[in-house]
Amino acid sequence: MKKLIIGCDHGGLTLKNRIIEHLKEKGFEIEDCGTYTKESCDYPVIAHKLASKISDNTYEKGILVCGTGLGMSIAANKVKGVRAVTCTDTCSARMSRAHNNANVLCLGERITGEYLALDIVDIWLSTDFEGGRHQRRVDIIEAGV
Ligand code: RB5
Repeated sequence: MKKLIIGCDHGGLTLKNRIIEHLKEKGFEIEDCGTYTKESCDYPVIAHKLASKISDNTYEKGILVCGTGLGMSIAANKVKGVRAVTCTDTCSARMSRAHNNANVLCLGERITGEYLALDIVDIWLSTDFEGGRHQRRVDIIEAGV
């Protein structure tokens, strides 16, 4: 079963709902960890909620949507084992999986249009990590300083 966790703040609600609909059509089982309304909320709370379920291996991958995709990635990357990337193009989406083994994709509803965002999601989810020399580099990231 293809499963993942997704979350957003008020600035990413519309795109998040569209992504959920798109991925359900493709057979994904999705946990939506909020927010569920347009009422203003704090994106780091959602980012940390999702990231902890990546960190504890409940989910292999997650998607976060806010206005820009920036705050979500900064917040998610504070959680151990999380490699969150903000992508605004399909090449970065592919490379973030192939070379960086990114496990959280962050998108900006106010930056990236729906069609491009859905392409980014599809490419990000279907690209495998290449391992090899890239594994060594990811291990160095995880070791920290
Ligand atoms: C909320 O207004 C906005 O700051 C948030 O969605 C996001 O863009 C933060 O990085």
